[in-house]
Amino acid sequence: MKKIAVFTSGGDAPGMNACIRAIVRGAAYHNVEVFGIVRGYNGMIKGDIIPLNSQSVSNIIQRGGTILKSARSKEFMTSEGRQKAYDQLKEKGIEGLVAIGGNGTFTGAEIFYNEFKIPTVGAPGTIDNDLYGTDYTIGYDTAVNTALDAIDKIRDTADSHDRVFFIEVMGRDSGYIAIECGIAGGAEAVMIPENLTPVSDIIGILQKGFAKAKSSSIVVVAEGDEEGNAQIIAKKIKEGMSAELDIRVTTLGHIQRGGIPTASDRILASRLGLGALEGLLRGEKNVMAGVVNNQLVYTPFHDTITKKKPVSEDLIRMVEILST
Ligand code: F6P
Repeated sequence: MKKIAVFTSGGDAPGMNACIRAIVRGAAYHNVEVFGIVRGYNGMIKGDIIPLNSQSVSNIIQRGGTILKSARSKEFMTSEGRQKAYDQLKEKGIEGLVAIGGNGTFTGAEIFYNEFKIPTVGAPGTIDNDLYGTDYTIGYDTAVNTALDAIDKIRDTADSHDRVFFIEVMGRDSGYIAIECGIAGGAEAVMIPENLTPVSDIIGILQKGFAKAKSSSIVVVAEGDEEGNAQIIAKKIKEGMSAELDIRVTTLGHIQRGGIPTASDRILASRLGLGALEGLLRGEKNVMAGVVNNQLVYTPFHDTITKKKPVSEDLIRMVEILST
């Protein structure tokens, strides 16, 4: 394999640039020509494909976002779109792909591989940490730390005003960000889709806290929680509590997607980028590179997108014990 291309797709994540850098520098080391596809699958369809070299990726390891830009492509979901993408790659002589992204990216990559057989290896880049086949995804650690920083700040004002805050964090259908920033931020309760906590339980936790003279509380809510978003939950709690509570809701939103990647994310991204590239050059295809128990492993795209990575029961139990 002498000509490959890399692209980022779906929601951006801090550390994607470090991953691109590792792939490009790794390709130079192995004497492989490398191209960047701009704006993910949309760029593939349009043929927006640029040459990259070691210098193109200087001074990006510390930058959030992605120099290759990202998109969620509707056209790639159609067979006409994928045919156009294949024609572009063929015309440019691209023999293999490294896809950096999450669930949607690998769903597209699997379909594309099955149709056109261009070897593709993925590197997991998403703040959600929801991919089976890797303990952590690129961007997750930074997102947790960003959310934690916000929780710490909200804690100050919550305490000054004796308020209850509901803080909504991202994660799509996964509660990873919520559980870890909740534990690290000393939240009174965490609501995640993996562990159904009825509103009545949260009321019980808050009442117990007030009985012990707690004057402020923080409840971290994962955006995918079954009880609804933080606004809806806060409303239900207000209606269900006899005490007059001073409640506020903060939705952290896209702040969690940006910022300088942490050291952990830069190292993980470098390891997974190089791992994905070297796997591709060794003949891996239709798989995602991941780190499980500190070992580099390759998991079929199919498993990464269909199998669920559970949130540890230990963490869920810990929240219950440590918040009382
Ligand atoms: O997958 C990353 C993520 O940030 C999710 O946590 C969130 O649900 C979604 O993307 C938001 O997507 P968009 O940026 O398209 O609004």
